[in-house]
Amino acid sequence: MTNHKTVLLMGGDGIGPEVTEQGARVLSWFADRRGLPLHFEEDLYGGACFDRHGVFVRDATVIHAGEVDAVLCGASGGPKWDDLPQARPKAGMDGLTRMRRELDLFANIRPSRCLPALENASTLKAEVIRGVDLIVLRELTSGIYYGEPRGIEELPDGRRRGVDTQIYSSDEIERVVRQAFELARDRRGIVHSVEKSNVMETGILWREVASQVHADEFPDLTLHHMLTDNCAMQLVRDPRQFDVIVTDNLFGDLLSDASAMLMGSLGMLPSASLGPARGDGRRAALYEPVHGSAPDIASQGLANPLASILSVAMMLRLSLDAPEEAAMLERAVEAALDGGARTSDLAAPGESTVSTPGMGDAVIAALEDLI
Ligand code: IPM
Ligand code: MG
Repeated sequence: MTNHKTVLLMGGDGIGPEVTEQGARVLSWFADRRGLPLHFEEDLYGGACFDRHGVFVRDATVIHAGEVDAVLCGASGGPKWDDLPQARPKAGMDGLTRMRRELDLFANIRPSRCLPALENASTLKAEVIRGVDLIVLRELTSGIYYGEPRGIEELPDGRRRGVDTQIYSSDEIERVVRQAFELARDRRGIVHSVEKSNVMETGILWREVASQVHADEFPDLTLHHMLTDNCAMQLVRDPRQFDVIVTDNLFGDLLSDASAMLMGSLGMLPSASLGPARGDGRRAALYEPVHGSAPDIASQGLANPLASILSVAMMLRLSLDAPEEAAMLERAVEAALDGGARTSDLAAPGESTVSTPGMGDAVIAALEDLI
């Protein structure tokens, strides 16, 4: 099996398993029809893991996830587990934020591309989003998600006080900004570094470090600094100005949900989370849709699997040395949409819809047409 690439599948909860199944199906298609040497493994994380093992992810799973070539996850969690303290996305507790942190997956790439077939699926006007092609690069292992101190404390006078800590060191900013420029170099060469340096100390440091990385390593590319609130506004006002947006963990969470609507639906947005390059040049890598586990529509075949399928395209390109196959899969997704396949999140009122596996069928049929 040495020349095989190992992909670890973790479906998660809610709609996670059903969309991941379609992503895995597409990967299997590449193994069967294009001879990609893939080997699949499966494991549990999230609520499903808690019910079986009493933890949201097992230690051995985290270690193994760092050893395989790529991990494909579905979303996790749901109301059944929400009130458990272990479910809170706090350092080392819930499965997802623990894997991100322990595998050092600092570079979270969330691309938004407006596909012609979906110009009218967005709540934004087609003339605003036409041609959008941007990446939100979110720092994923630090900031307010993990900063200490944190907690809810009782004050002597009986009031309670919640505390979170936003914290960034220069090396954490440096590596994610460097990643932004590396992505931009193969694109339009424009990086927007986004922070709140008008009110936050971490924002001031972020801006200084971004300028330094730009001057020292990428003077031929363009760097713009932008405040987060302005960026949120610009994303809906004139999104075509953006190429790569690099920002911290919390701002990236917010801005990437907003940028999802540039693609028509949150059900379309894929992501890759990468660790630093190791000795052999490989990077720990976890691929997941940006959307949540949507327990209200789980197991009804209503979920859109395209975020998972497009996450597979990112995996092909970034972890499986298969850039041609990645491009082919992206073309197949476009062809499926051009052919009219719509899950209910994408359909206009009155338009007919396909189920979750139905969308998988449409993508596979389009792949068959491409070979
Ligand atoms: C995301 C999600 C997660 C986050 C949640 C589920 C902890 O919203 O990946 O964007 O906030 O990072
Ligand atoms: Mg989010």
